[in-house]
Amino acid sequence: MTGPALIDVEDLRIDLNLGSSRVAAVEGVSFHIDRGETFGLVGESGCGKSITALALIGLLRRPLSVGAGAIRFEGREIQNLPAVEQRTLRGNRIAMIFQEPMTALNPVSPVGRQIAEMFVLHGGKSWRDANRLAVEALASVRVPAPERRVKDYPHQLSGGMRQRVMIAIALACGPDLLIADEPTTALDVTVQAEIIELMRNLCAARGTAVLMISHDLGLVANFCRRVAVMYAGRIVEQRSSDDIFRACSHPYTQGLVDSLPRLGSRARLGRSRLREIAGVVPAITNFPSGCRFNPRCAQATEVCRTTAPETTMLGADGLVRCHHHA
Ligand SMILES: Nc1ncnc2c1ncn2[C@@H]1O[C@H](COP(=O)(O)OP(=O)(O)OP(=O)(O)O)[C@@H](O)[C@H]1O
Ligand SMILES: [Mg+2]
Repeated sequence: MTGPALIDVEDLRIDLNLGSSRVAAVEGVSFHIDRGETFGLVGESGCGKSITALALIGLLRRPLSVGAGAIRFEGREIQNLPAVEQRTLRGNRIAMIFQEPMTALNPVSPVGRQIAEMFVLHGGKSWRDANRLAVEALASVRVPAPERRVKDYPHQLSGGMRQRVMIAIALACGPDLLIADEPTTALDVTVQAEIIELMRNLCAARGTAVLMISHDLGLVANFCRRVAVMYAGRIVEQRSSDDIFRACSHPYTQGLVDSLPRLGSRARLGRSRLREIAGVVPAITNFPSGCRFNPRCAQATEVCRTTAPETTMLGADGLVRCHHHA
């Protein structure tokens, strides 16, 4: 790839400001996403996935703030852009969809109007054109009878249909990057699969890069070309999706792999329990010293309790942070 990455995050730190003191909720996070690429962030609840995404789109709010590091879009530092350019970036070039579309949609506005608004506000279209484009946008996310559904209010639609509307809104202005934060977690399994396929097809057809965020390693690895695993505010491993199952190096990643149901296994049928990673993610005010995973790690030794592991590069694009990496 020549030229700068579409988005490039370097040594990002996100602070949680607690009045007189502050703690780093996210630290030393670096990754890039190329134009049209699919990249995944995976990890258990509370490890910092969503706040990393919010930092990328400039939507972190107090008590959280970017404490250090660079976030570059096509080589330009986002945080230094004038406010008006930041808004254009957020409205037109980076779009985001969330887990629960009901909170992101306006409950008192018909969904067609909410899609049309994007074409008017960010695409410079007339309302007449925008209303027509809204019907086309609903059709593109395969909402049946789109010319009728544009008049529906969010509460009149199922969860899956609402998420389709969110995707239509997000893709309305042809963004270069779509950030999808747990886009299907609130949906049942068959609807999840349909939404994921829809996103895959639409983004591939339009060349839209995707940052897919989920606690579900299977989903992320299936959707994305590369995956970063986060634990307690840090990226502990980054791999191509192929390698993450074949040859993961971090015990935490191995734990995530082991907790996945396997095709054809009894676990998939719910007859036996899946292997879970024992223990919980520590609170940000209470990160252990050394490797943050050490209290939960079966392989931990003295060095893991005292010294934070350095990043070891694995080939051109992989990395791991573990004293005992395979
Ligand atoms: N507004 C806030 N004020 C204080 N702490 C916050 C705030 N938002 C997030 N945090 C803390 O920052 C950490 C990272 O949160 P984040 O929402 O990014 O986690 P996540 O990986 O997205 O988890 P989940 O899978 O549950 O969505 C958590 O410990 C969370 O409690
Ligand atoms: Mg989250």
